[in-house]
Amino acid sequence: MKKKILVIGGAGYIGSHVVKKLLEDGFEVLVYDNLSSGYEDNISKGAFFIKGDILDEEQLNEVMSQNIDGVVHLAAKKAVGESMEKPEIYAKNNLTGSLNILNAMINNNVKYIVFSSSAAVYGMPQYTPIDEKHPIMPINYYGYTKRAIEENLEWFDKLNKIRFVSLRYFNAVGYAEDKSIRGKEKNPQNLLPIIMEVATGKRKDFSIFGNDYNTCDGTCIRDYIHVTDLAKAHSLALDKLFCADKSYTLNLGTGLGTSVKEIVDATEKVIGKKLNYSYASRRLGDPDMLTANATLASEVLGWAPEYTDISRIISTIWNIE
Ligand code: UFG
Repeated sequence: MKKKILVIGGAGYIGSHVVKKLLEDGFEVLVYDNLSSGYEDNISKGAFFIKGDILDEEQLNEVMSQNIDGVVHLAAKKAVGESMEKPEIYAKNNLTGSLNILNAMINNNVKYIVFSSSAAVYGMPQYTPIDEKHPIMPINYYGYTKRAIEENLEWFDKLNKIRFVSLRYFNAVGYAEDKSIRGKEKNPQNLLPIIMEVATGKRKDFSIFGNDYNTCDGTCIRDYIHVTDLAKAHSLALDKLFCADKSYTLNLGTGLGTSVKEIVDATEKVIGKKLNYSYASRRLGDPDMLTANATLASEVLGWAPEYTDISRIISTIWNIE
């Protein structure tokens, strides 16, 4: 019998890639999303869609009562800057919303959840690559909400035998190569979506924040992980939960670092034209370098990223323009 998976936030950027992968891997998929940032068009054919909010406890309980075998929870507000200005929005959506999901799981005896966490839980890196034993000291409210949810998962594991896999994503980028998912963020805050708006003429120019970091070319280094590789990890995490009945917290990154300047140079090559940009001062809270040690994900899930070439990753975004 096919396992029935409830993907909460399944119409969003990462969620829609997860839905696609779960269907390919033979899961039955139910998507629950309020479409606040996602697109119904991006939900792969074969998934059943229910429009709903994680703050609506009644509807969540109703959906969770439909013989769900496991949950993938990707519904969250995710703009780091906004989380420092309007933390109350993040408290409500990310914290209250996630507790509503956990309560609905308990009410309906659903035991397994894959949670979309973030490298933002670590805060300023004390060493790189960062493994899961690295101290947890989020420096923004968004990162704090992700950690607080992980802590609740740990408690619910102890007290209610909810088993979870928390996946700490590094910098998620790219699109499915078959161009089946296209929805763009309305007001992107991340580097590659911003660069692509400049590449397509939607935006005049962009800034590289800081060229005086302690890195090869003075610009920040990040670990860019392709969304298809992230999606694969969710499918493997569900398999693992169903067979091992144990909880895990795992980094997802390539382990490779790419500087902002390298991203810009690689994009210019991929798109075949020069980009209009200038150097600006550092952005508050940006560490020099953030790369993942994802050995544990490879040991526990047998996961390995397929997209390790940054030009190939960028091509998958240009591909859908
Ligand atoms: N950057 C620029 N110009 C821009 C935008 C970004 O130079 O216009 C730089 C940033 O300073 C940073 C790099 O590009 O050095 C990447 O920045 P992003 O905003 O794309 O991503 P972050 O590394 O700041 O954060 C992302 C997610 C977080 C997550 C983190 C985990 O937004 O949610 O990755 O690694 F926690």
